[in-house]
Amino acid sequence: MLKPRKIKDGLHWVGVIDWDRRLFDALVPLPDGTSYNAYLLEGTEKRVLLDTVDSDKIGSWRGVLDGVERLDYLVAHHAEQDHSGAIPEVLASHTECTVLATEKCKAMLIDHLHIPPNRIRAVADGETVSLGGRTLEFVKTPWVHWPETMCTYVPEDRILFSCDFFGSHLATSDLWVRDRGQVYEAAKRYYAEIMMPFRQTIRRNLEKVRARNPVWIAPSHGPLYDDPSFILEAYEDWVNSEPKNEVVLPYVSMHGSTEAMVRHLVGALTEREITVRPFNLSVTDIGKLAIALVDAATLVVGTPTVHVSPHPAVFYAAHLANALRPKLQFASIIGSYGWSSKAIERIAALIPNLKVDLLDPVLCKGYPREPDFKALDTLAETIAARHRERGLR
Ligand code: FEO
Repeated sequence: MLKPRKIKDGLHWVGVIDWDRRLFDALVPLPDGTSYNAYLLEGTEKRVLLDTVDSDKIGSWRGVLDGVERLDYLVAHHAEQDHSGAIPEVLASHTECTVLATEKCKAMLIDHLHIPPNRIRAVADGETVSLGGRTLEFVKTPWVHWPETMCTYVPEDRILFSCDFFGSHLATSDLWVRDRGQVYEAAKRYYAEIMMPFRQTIRRNLEKVRARNPVWIAPSHGPLYDDPSFILEAYEDWVNSEPKNEVVLPYVSMHGSTEAMVRHLVGALTEREITVRPFNLSVTDIGKLAIALVDAATLVVGTPTVHVSPHPAVFYAAHLANALRPKLQFASIIGSYGWSSKAIERIAALIPNLKVDLLDPVLCKGYPREPDFKALDTLAETIAARHRERGLR
């Protein structure tokens, strides 16, 4: 068990670093592990725990509150179990403690963790609770990434406890952000995988945070920000800016024909000064694909034909892109087939959420020939022209 780490007088980090975790929700890759950050905050009269840890880590976390005789409140920013998992344990050992959560979060804690309703008090957006010399101000920030999520702002310290918002799946001994490049990628991965579909709401939530002008942001995953402008500006870029002059190209190839087409298209796009990011879905980390979708203007899917349909890995990638609702403006499909194919129709049907212009696909029979490579050049030229027309850089 890590000992509590002092942030300032009356405020300690009391979380767990999960160095070995490699998958979240049995779906999301965590190449760099993660942490579950909880915080113990004291006023002159009251003491509060902000979030807990994943239920898998209760064993190594148990004991962190030893010596804490009275715990008045436990703030649950989010009902997902990586933060709420140890709430029943805390309530059992601190029978005086009341959970503070949004109304929606209260209902979810009852459903998911069977917490007795009389142990939870619902709080409203903007409501304040005094600890004595310190104030908890609750700020509803829905859809980060569930509907019940909120942050807590402490105006006396100008610190925002943001839970998943601004978090990064990153196991590090650094309490504060020190390696900005590493944190930027981990935070962007986190945004891409769980928050990108809710961009409009995230934008409004960002305005609420900006209005408070925090000097520190303490998320529930990854290191804390002592220069919040770093992560606020990154989020503002991800949610607000136009897509960039970039093509994302997820593909699979079984016998090299689709691979040859992908390689040719990558070269043709590169010649036209377009950044292209190919992802071989048979080996790629799907989180890297999600990160690339944050900025891309165009999606080109490369697939062979399997039983008349796209390769199953391509179904998965297309479904993911559709669910994440990135800022894409154009899409196309390339690939090879043996005797007949419905790959184009079936991929197009998988991406109704993407408000894109579909550019002419390039499908070839067998290994590509010269006319197929010329068609790929034409596709590259069309993409370049469309990006120019939209002023994408
Ligand atoms: Fe870190 Fe949505 O839980």
